[in-house]
Amino acid sequence: EQIEKGGYDHFMLKEIYEQPNVIKDTYRGRLHANEGIIQMAGVEDNLEKFLNADRILIVACGTSWHAGLVAEYIFEEFTRIPVEVEYASEFRYRNPIINKGDVLIAISQSGETADTLAAIKLAKEKGAFVFGVCNVVGSSISRETHAGAYTHAGPEIGVASTKAFTTQITVLTMIALRLAKAKGTLSNSDFHRYLQELEVIPEKVTEALATNDVSKTIAEKFKDAPNCLYLGRGYNFPVALEGALKLKEISYIHAEGYPAAEMKHGPIALIDELMPVVVIAPKQGHYDKVVSNIQEIKSRSGKIIAVVTKGDVQVRELADYVIEVPDTSDALSPLLTTIPLQLLSYHIAVMRGCNVDQPRNLAKSVTVE
Ligand code: G6P
Repeated sequence: EQIEKGGYDHFMLKEIYEQPNVIKDTYRGRLHANEGIIQMAGVEDNLEKFLNADRILIVACGTSWHAGLVAEYIFEEFTRIPVEVEYASEFRYRNPIINKGDVLIAISQSGETADTLAAIKLAKEKGAFVFGVCNVVGSSISRETHAGAYTHAGPEIGVASTKAFTTQITVLTMIALRLAKAKGTLSNSDFHRYLQELEVIPEKVTEALATNDVSKTIAEKFKDAPNCLYLGRGYNFPVALEGALKLKEISYIHAEGYPAAEMKHGPIALIDELMPVVVIAPKQGHYDKVVSNIQEIKSRSGKIIAVVTKGDVQVRELADYVIEVPDTSDALSPLLTTIPLQLLSYHIAVMRGCNVDQPRNLAKSVTVE
């Protein structure tokens, strides 16, 4: 097992550090930035189905559901196709409206999650075209779907999903870009810019991984906190949810993710000097709005840990701690902002003596209801 961990203390840490390579593996042969081409067999073969879709339904569970939420923002922005994202467990039991022209995308690392599999079967019965985004080759979901695109994250052993999440976002971004090109919903220059930016994301993820020491220092300060709040807006709202999920999964600290603007409708009541608040505040997002949210937290003495774009000055003045990630466009920022949150959870869990790779009560893959 020590050999399998490749010199890392835990599988989770190894998998966090694998992200630059596996993101590259995921887009290799599919993304040709210089030629302005994105090609994925499962999408090309079914292009008409995607282009004629009245809407796209996304179903998934856990971290994969968070990737689905990021995809909702990306698909609607790039392709103008309406998207709905739903927990597979809710979808399957609520007599959902599924029409023949619908495209359902099921996202699953393992390809074995029982609820997601059941949602797929239901959608197929109702005549939808079902597309899978799976990591495990030959898994049940990859076999049950009409077509799909694999993520090439390699085996993910840590129960808390890390590299599966970023590679899912990579695949979904490529699909959205391919459809946008066909539909003409992105300008030529934006399309090319996104391709170029996606191609250099692995190097930027490497830079984001260099925040490990800062994350460790911050973890030391907050490892005994009973609660933690994560806030983000737009593309980084799902990142807030995922950051909170990572923390609760492996450190057993109660954590909640919230859209930053919703804070005033509830969570703000929880803020006092004992409440750490992780705010995701990259420059390209709704920056000014997030800055005012940070001011609101500060005036209530909350402790602010901010994930910002490299070189940021405004948030640095307000926050107790900042973690810098490289600049990229808003739509691609989740691939970077999520990295320090993975590291933060990892270090807090280790410091609390938790079983990072196999947290209590959790399974890597939930194959029964
Ligand atoms: C379990 C795992 C999570 C995962 C979720 C969905 O809860 O612990 O890490 O996100 O299942 O799994 P899937 O394999 O369908 O992505």
